[in-house]
Amino acid sequence: MDLFAELTVSDPLPFDRAGLLKAVLAQFRINRDGAHGTRHWARVRRHALTVGQATNSDPLVVELFAFLHDSQRKNEYVDEGHGHRAAEYARSLKTVYFDLTPIQLDKLCIAMSGHSDGQLHTDPTIQTCWDADRLDLGRVGKKPHAKYLSAEAAKYIDHAYEWSLR
Ligand SMILES: [Fe+2]
Repeated sequence: MDLFAELTVSDPLPFDRAGLLKAVLAQFRINRDGAHGTRHWARVRRHALTVGQATNSDPLVVELFAFLHDSQRKNEYVDEGHGHRAAEYARSLKTVYFDLTPIQLDKLCIAMSGHSDGQLHTDPTIQTCWDADRLDLGRVGKKPHAKYLSAEAAKYIDHAYEWSLR
């Protein structure tokens, strides 16, 4: 099954995934089939949920990160500010398609604002978001480096690299 299509499977969810995806795509300014498009979101989601189980991360926050972190890009290259814009967008959507506690929303926004800065974070949910995005670097010809990942995520480097090349 197409990775993105699997998201339409109706499993019990704590948020309106279909509504959120529709809204994000309706305002998406770059190619949905490109390096920051839907297949990337789907792989980031899978990585986030897999690594997140090992790190005890918040599954709702990491899944929302997958769909929103690149949603405000204006180009496929160095788009400074796209993470901050994504955080503002998430705050504007809160309670429309998902409901988060203030702490969950803050974590989501910190993860999105800083996701391109190459840092590590002590909060497992925020780090898992960054791990998941970095594990998908193979799609732009870069192999993920353990230095920028949690120990749990580093175990998936080879698997993720192979997957992102497919
Ligand atoms: Fe990304």
